[in-house]
Amino acid sequence: MDAVTEKYNAVVVARQALTPDLFIIKVKPDKPSADFISGQYVLLGLSSNLPRRAGSEPEFKESKADRMVLRAYSIASAGHEPGLLEFYISVVSNGSLTTRLVSLQPGDRLMVGDKIRGFFTLDTVPKEHTNVVLAATGTGLAPYVSMMRRHAVHPFPFRFVILHGAPKSWELGYLEELRMQSRYLPRVAYIPSITRTKEDPWWTGESGRITQWFQGNLLKERLEVELDPAKTSVFLCGNPAMIHEVQKALEPKGYTAYTTQVPGSLHTEEYW
Ligand SMILES: Cc1cc2nc3c(=O)[nH]c(=O)nc-3n(C[C@H](O)[C@H](O)[C@H](O)COP(=O)(O)OP(=O)(O)OC[C@H]3O[C@@H](n4cnc5c(N)ncnc54)[C@H](O)[C@@H]3O)c2cc1C
Ligand SMILES: NC(=O)c1ccc[n+]([C@@H]2O[C@H](COP(=O)([O-])OP(=O)(O)OC[C@H]3O[C@@H](n4cnc5c(N)ncnc54)[C@H](OP(=O)(O)O)[C@@H]3O)[C@@H](O)[C@H]2O)c1
Repeated sequence: MDAVTEKYNAVVVARQALTPDLFIIKVKPDKPSADFISGQYVLLGLSSNLPRRAGSEPEFKESKADRMVLRAYSIASAGHEPGLLEFYISVVSNGSLTTRLVSLQPGDRLMVGDKIRGFFTLDTVPKEHTNVVLAATGTGLAPYVSMMRRHAVHPFPFRFVILHGAPKSWELGYLEELRMQSRYLPRVAYIPSITRTKEDPWWTGESGRITQWFQGNLLKERLEVELDPAKTSVFLCGNPAMIHEVQKALEPKGYTAYTTQVPGSLHTEEYW
């Protein structure tokens, strides 16, 4: 143990790989983590002395030796497995942390930040809103997994539409869980959509980028959800380009960004 690894305060208890670049880990902090609200995030950290996965691209920003490499991750769990935190992570080939996190196996240790933060949460939605649209690319789904797990135990009073975009169907993490939830939970519509249909010709569900659901009247026509900032809150998480495009499509409808000072109906969490 060295000065960096002695700060490790949690152990990996489970790991599930969806692809070599996409995985779910469950982590058990040595001391139970503070209570959190679905949608919040925490920092994960590993020593820069740990080797990166073989074959990774050169680091975007070279890590100095003997440092803790820390990044933010949305929590996918919802306190339903006491003492455990779950994360849904994609590997960025020139990244510093994910090319190290990807090699963790059950029993390996890491650092989990003390503070759980963020305002990307449903308690910020006005009571008079009827609908909440939760849109994500890739691992931006993680906060919504937590929200739905919470909804299963303590139902929120809203009607939910979950839009999830991924390249191929096997990169639609939590597909079966969300399909089940959309069948048995009150007021949940789940729309997974893939963008690389040529590479996944077996997929029979929706295709195309999720941005299409915010252009024109598709949500109203298909699900009777009106994109009106007085009735419908919109959450966007993941790829910043998707977030900016949807923001632009919603501005003419009167949507403004939610901040702690100004309570708009558009909530965003940009992953990079
Ligand atoms: C609030 C918050 C919550 C987050 N939650 C999650 C989560 O639940 N799951 C998850 O996988 N990631 C999540 N992220 C992203 C995460 O914090 C890291 O940025 C990401 O894992 C890459 O880390 P890295 O050290 O490997 O790459 P870095 O060394 O930080 O970045 C390398 C390069 O890749 C770019 N980049 C960073 N992330 C991505 C990406 N996802 N796709 C493409 N390019 C990228 C960077 O801008 C940079 O150019 C979250 C980010 C924030 C701000
Ligand atoms: N090789 C792999 O198996 C693999 C798996 C997971 C992650 N990764 C890497 O991990 C990083 C990010 O992963 P991620 O999970 O966040 O994302 P991702 O899985 O790479 O992509 C998620 C989805 O976002 C879509 N998208 C991209 N730009 C968009 C926009 N402007 N508007 C709407 N949708 C948009 C993509 O569509 P398009 O297909 O049209 O771009 C894709 O369907 C990338 O570096 C990625 O290369 C690689």
